[in-house]
Amino acid sequence: MFYSDDIIEEVRSRNDIVDVISGYVKLQRKGSSYFGLCPFHNEKSPSFSVSPSKQMYYCFGCGAGGNVFTFIMEYENYTFPETLKLLADRAGVSLPEQEYSEEAKRQRDRKSAVLEVNKMAAKYFYYQLRSPQGAKAMEYLKNRQLGDETIKRFGLGYAGPYSDALYRYLKKQGVSDQLLKESGLMQVNERQGMYDKFWNRVMFPIMDVNNKVIGFGGRVMGDGKPKYLNSPETIIFDKSRNLYGLNFARTAKKRYMLVCEGYMDVISMHQAGFTNAVASLGTALTSQHASLLKRYTDEVILTYDSDEAGIRAALRAIPLLKEAGVSTRVLHMEPYKDPDEFIKALGTEAFQDRIDHAENSFMFEVSVMQKSYDMKDPDAKTRFFQAVASKIAGFELEIERENYIEAVTGRYQISFEGLRRMVMNVLMQGVPVRKAPVRQEARQEKEDGIRKSQRLILTWLCEYPKLFETVSAYIRPEDFSDKLYRSVASMLYEQLEHGQLNPARITNHFQDPEQQRTVAKLFNTEVPVETPEEQKKAIKETIHKVMEHGIKQRTAALDPTDMEGLQKLIESKRRLQELERLHISL
Ligand code: GTP
Ligand code: MN
Repeated sequence: MFYSDDIIEEVRSRNDIVDVISGYVKLQRKGSSYFGLCPFHNEKSPSFSVSPSKQMYYCFGCGAGGNVFTFIMEYENYTFPETLKLLADRAGVSLPEQEYSEEAKRQRDRKSAVLEVNKMAAKYFYYQLRSPQGAKAMEYLKNRQLGDETIKRFGLGYAGPYSDALYRYLKKQGVSDQLLKESGLMQVNERQGMYDKFWNRVMFPIMDVNNKVIGFGGRVMGDGKPKYLNSPETIIFDKSRNLYGLNFARTAKKRYMLVCEGYMDVISMHQAGFTNAVASLGTALTSQHASLLKRYTDEVILTYDSDEAGIRAALRAIPLLKEAGVSTRVLHMEPYKDPDEFIKALGTEAFQDRIDHAENSFMFEVSVMQKSYDMKDPDAKTRFFQAVASKIAGFELEIERENYIEAVTGRYQISFEGLRRMVMNVLMQGVPVRKAPVRQEARQEKEDGIRKSQRLILTWLCEYPKLFETVSAYIRPEDFSDKLYRSVASMLYEQLEHGQLNPARITNHFQDPEQQRTVAKLFNTEVPVETPEEQKKAIKETIHKVMEHGIKQRTAALDPTDMEGLQKLIESKRRLQELERLHISL
């Protein structure tokens, strides 16, 4: 952290969240909160709420949430320091320059030094490609039908035939061995010392959203192995948080993004005018990638390779994107392998047509599922539809379920009524039969249930601070099952012990927007209750559930020789019994 907690909190508290968000979203008061249309997903009726008392926002539709910093970071795509600066200026707080800790300053200097080395290397490769030595590489790129404009735009380059050329060049520029090592551009071995990681390869500089070179991919010209070498992760290169091409795609202003596997695919698509294409960096798509994409779009069209690996990658990506609030469609490339080959063979219009006909991700999952059932066998067929029914039962809204029932009956041999009844059965049993091993899923669901209860406790503590005395007598922060939950709980407990409830301040402690979102969710969990009596009953039940789980957790972890721990456990169990008689007042 570059700034002290106090200065961060000062900036936060001087920027009233309702004021700030009103500048972006039309808000209307409803009870103790304000509501408006969520700026982070498409919606027709307002589910975006801003709480003046918590100084936090939360969208019940897409789960976006956090404090005033989170909002600006997400809305403006700002980094935390940029956001802090904007809000400090807005409130007339001056940020002390010397707030940087020694360690933070060193980190920042190291980062900019590594960035500088990468920039020098990118320039070096760029000129090599255009030198006589680079003729062969240039020819390779031309053969792959890349135009001059494209080659320039993506800053493509060439690493020459000698394995010490870049090393010597950078040494001459005065770069230290230590820094070279940190840059990921060098290999070190005892016999040869330090030498270039990339040589005799076409070079693809990888840029972050601010057009800074953070790493490289290098391709052999021809059939050598390995086909690509990629920079290792360094202090500036985090593969799970960057996407190739995003620096251009972010400004493409299309309603969706194309996500593919390879550098060449991105470049090919951009050249053909699909400037909203990005790729992960030789790794699978991560949940961080999904959140990153969510900043720029609500819809992703997966243009993965049409082979087995591509299908598997798509199946993994879909739930991650969904979790981040991004809906997904899958583009079919058959009979071609990847977007690059497709566009070369059939051209831009045909590709656009495939985009327009990209398959809904749910139907894609169903069609993959179907392949593992022998549809000629009546039993297998029944099992397939059962699996489909439980998948459909997972949708919250009836209208969604009906739409999917309709889509499935349009494609597979089953009647609307037949499938609808199967879905109803699943819903009534409340035990979804899914294709994944049931035991695993059941455990997951139970786990989710407990987490929800834990979130409810934290939300209620914010809404009814008076409950603290009661709740803290039964539940300790250690009883929460997740590390993030535990640390939020202990901060909240500490605030409440001092009578200084301030949930937005807790959010300050987490600078990763994804964690901020989770924190917002912790303070904005609801269960539908009508009357205060129901509310009290729900609170009591929830305390019981969380406590019981905490006891179980502690029992499992108990060292049999730990007498004190055992005493405490017995005491907790006794209190759990007592809970029956507890009277809750709000
Ligand atoms: P071309 O064959 O040049 O068209 O490349 P492509 O962009 O179609 O790549 P491909 O689909 O073969 O691979 C997708 C991505 O996986 C590449 O862009 C690389 O990031 C990564 N990759 C491919 N081959 C290798 C390899 O041999 N080693 C490593 N580390 N990564 C690879
Ligand atoms: Mn390819």
